[in-house]
Amino acid sequence: MGGNKTELYVPNHVGIIMDGNGRWAKKRGLPRYVGHTYGAQTFKNITRYISKRGVGILTLYAFSTENWKRPPEEVNAIMKIFRQYLVDSLTDFRDDDIKVVFIGDRSVFDPKMIDLINETEEVAKNRKGMLLNIAMNYGGRDEIVRAVKLICNDVRDGKITPDDITDNFIKSKLYTGSEPDPDLIIRTGGEHRLSNFLLYQSAYSEFYSTETLWPDFKAEDFDKAIEEFNRRSRRFGGV
Ligand code: IPE
Ligand code: IPE
Ligand code: MG
Repeated sequence: MGGNKTELYVPNHVGIIMDGNGRWAKKRGLPRYVGHTYGAQTFKNITRYISKRGVGILTLYAFSTENWKRPPEEVNAIMKIFRQYLVDSLTDFRDDDIKVVFIGDRSVFDPKMIDLINETEEVAKNRKGMLLNIAMNYGGRDEIVRAVKLICNDVRDGKITPDDITDNFIKSKLYTGSEPDPDLIIRTGGEHRLSNFLLYQSAYSEFYSTETLWPDFKAEDFDKAIEEFNRRSRRFGGV
């Protein structure tokens, strides 16, 4: 493939595992939370860039159901950044027409934060541009457990019979609902694992890992991922 961006196919749904904030800070002799502050800046810049590149759906992994295991100082710092983001985001992304949605179990957050989450989604709900899913207290297994419970309730209430349970029906009970599966999942920070991200939806996603730590991730790094994606042969089990 040549270097001409316009020739490249831009995937419709991109997921990003934003990893490496802590190591970025450590390399500079700074406390881990500083990495998260810089990471939040990258999140805003790169989201705008990706929306301009014509991606339809961007799903960003911000905080996993396992990340509560971290020291309370770090969890508190992340929650503070998240709260600040929620305040900013009421107007942020408006000019870019980006529709913001949160996926994950929000019930654990304090009531003020839940209000902010709901308000953020509400002000953005009629926007027509890229859909931005922010995965916050998200876990792929947690999402599947939740879907199974919802389906069991439907059966119990006589709304469906077990024969009605199809792949598409299961998908409809996930946080991402009727959205198409991610075409490309990018992980920064060099690890080669999903860490509980979009387990059901990623069955045929192309996985791209870069050593670049999240706070250093730039438009050029995203472009490299798109170039690599264009070299992949997606067969979905066929030939
Ligand atoms: C990703 O960066 C952000 C979150 C998981 C909240 P990390 O904090 O995991 O950074 P590393 O992987 O320790 O460098
Ligand atoms: C994955 O990163 C979660 C997010 C980026 C939000 P982690 O740093 O939590 O993943 P592990 O612990 O390296 O698997
Ligand atoms: Mg990490």
